[in-house]
Amino acid sequence: MKKLVILSGAGISAESGISTFRDAGGLWDKYPVMQVASIEGYEADPELVINFYNERRKQLLDVKPNQGHMLCAELEKYFDVTVVTQNVDNLHERAGSHNIIHLHGELTKVCSSYNPNNPKYIKELKPEEFEVKMGDKAGDGSQLRPFIVWFGEDVPRIADAAYEAEKADIFVIIGTSMNVYPAAGLLNYVPYNAEVYLIDPKDVYIDTERKITHIKKGASEGMKELMRLIAEG
Ligand code: APR
Repeated sequence: MKKLVILSGAGISAESGISTFRDAGGLWDKYPVMQVASIEGYEADPELVINFYNERRKQLLDVKPNQGHMLCAELEKYFDVTVVTQNVDNLHERAGSHNIIHLHGELTKVCSSYNPNNPKYIKELKPEEFEVKMGDKAGDGSQLRPFIVWFGEDVPRIADAAYEAEKADIFVIIGTSMNVYPAAGLLNYVPYNAEVYLIDPKDVYIDTERKITHIKKGASEGMKELMRLIAEG
């Protein structure tokens, strides 16, 4: 089976009703990104940050995967698929994808404030636990915090993602402005003879000389066109 690697971003969840970050009216238009998505912001006002992620976590109860997510899962019938996502929502899981690497963490999980990546203290919240409060403790006695990779923090899963990208026969970039590293740098690991597709309704600047087939559509329509193109291939 050919290896197909998907690099997804907020755009794939837009049709599910989850705001992107840098589109007009996006999340970073509404919130000061360094206040709610950086380690300094968390240390300055942990309660504000914990509540910001409480709101985003609770939104998961009101949204569902769209056809873009579903078709990513369906590709597993024809390819060895790995989804590398920058998204912290659980829509790829709920759509049925199995091999998912979350580069920027997961909204449904919480962890230790002392050592966010200590697996002993990473916990999946049940829906009834989606509201984290100041004073809720991780197993090491520290304040429970969202299991999110903030600006200024390491991206522990980037090595796993690069390892997958190096094996790709087909690499699909969907719904990301390719603004944030190291995620945006994954394309550099993709073999030069691999086919690269971009699914995005807008033009996306990607710093590369390689040929990229741009399917200039939204996630659902774009994934349908991708399926047609790679089925012919
Ligand atoms: N279908 C596909 N793509 C879409 C759609 C759609 N319906 N709507 C918007 N897009 C595209 C936009 O054109 C844009 O290129 O999705 C992309 C969203 O870009 P960003 O908002 O920058 O989101 P993303 O690239 O995922 O951000 C990366 O930045 O703030 C951090 O940690 C955060 O993971 C996030 C990272």
